[in-house]
Amino acid sequence: MAILVTGGAGYIGSHTVVELQNAGYEVVVLDNLSNSSEKSLERVARITGKKVPFYKADILDRQALDMVFDKEKIDSVIHFAGLKAVGESVAKPWEYYENNIAGTLVLLDVMRKHGVKNIIFSSSATVYGAPERVPVSEESPKKDCTNPYGWTKSMLEQIMSDIQKADPEWNVILLRYFNPIGAHQSGLIGENPSGIPNNLMPYITQVAVGKREKLGVFGNDYNTPDGTGVRDYIHVVDLALGHVKALKKIEENAGLCIYNLGTGIGYSVLDLVKNFEEATGVKIPYEIKPRRAGDIDANYADASRAKRELGWEAKYGVREMCADSWRWQSQNPNGYED
Ligand code: NAD
Ligand code: UD1
Repeated sequence: MAILVTGGAGYIGSHTVVELQNAGYEVVVLDNLSNSSEKSLERVARITGKKVPFYKADILDRQALDMVFDKEKIDSVIHFAGLKAVGESVAKPWEYYENNIAGTLVLLDVMRKHGVKNIIFSSSATVYGAPERVPVSEESPKKDCTNPYGWTKSMLEQIMSDIQKADPEWNVILLRYFNPIGAHQSGLIGENPSGIPNNLMPYITQVAVGKREKLGVFGNDYNTPDGTGVRDYIHVVDLALGHVKALKKIEENAGLCIYNLGTGIGYSVLDLVKNFEEATGVKIPYEIKPRRAGDIDANYADASRAKRELGWEAKYGVREMCADSWRWQSQNPNGYED
């Protein structure tokens, strides 16, 4: 039996394929390569020594999905495929709802028609909106999202929860990621944003490698110790290992489960800059800029449920996250294009 990984050529997907193969799972990847390169899967094979069966296909393409489920013996799906740029989602809401929601509905329908009712879904801490208190546990109320991307995560959580309630044969695990950064220790795979990075760590590494002049720090008047935004950064390899643990949970007929995947520790923007400089020896010039619309003061996880129920806990610290992000960026200044 195999695990179908949608979006498996992307940043988190490729790291998860490595850990799944290392744990002995057969893996099949489906990706339309709209935000990734097939080269990531060649690199995965270099790391694990195993080829990755790959289908270039869109989750909106029912025929293609049917063909994959007919051909491969799929047991469970890990569903990463989706568009994820917050700003772009504000400008192109229809495209985000179509790709993320309509695409997932097609995937779920094809799955049930083939009797495959196990899914692990990439959700986000964004569903908590501006939390009333930190750390946030899974019981914290979901809040209004500030952008269509966030709404697709929130709505898809609801859709999959309702499907599981109506048909308890489904096992649905919703994983709410905090802020994934870092890269595989080999430096062979990592985050490969197109254009100007929206997120903090890829911006820092592009400044470090000389592609951008300086970092803009979005606001220093937040209600945090140094005034800059505080987030829960988690090493992408730890995140990938969380998916392997979630698969074990599915094998126990989990029903519906929700887990935060974070470290439980918050770092400010300036903390991250300092840690990056200390881990790599590279100086990051920065200037304070106005706040970014939709940003919140602080968000970090109470990840105790994942520890209790999955036996999962993040093991990499912020220095390793910085060193590994830098190794990937410095060895691959142009991502997979080199
Ligand atoms: P990514 O863009 O690197 O990976 C997503 C992959 O999905 C890409 O390879 C893309 O080509 C593919 N894809 C998109 N639409 C598709 C479609 N219609 N059919 C087939 N493939 C399609 O992003 P990532 O950072 O690896 O994120 C993976 C998932 O985790 C996404 O769902 C994202 O929303 C979610 N997530 C990411 C973060 C983060 O900070 N990176 C945080 C929370 C949640
Ligand atoms: C953002 C998204 C969130 C998404 C997540 C992962 C918003 C409002 N939120 O989270 O929905 O799930 O990415 O894709 O976009 N920062 C700077 N300078 C920069 C970039 C960021 O100072 O150039 C600051 C931000 O203001 C924030 C922190 O760094 O305080 C982290 O930002 P980012 O990496 O974009 O993550 P989130 O905003 O937490």
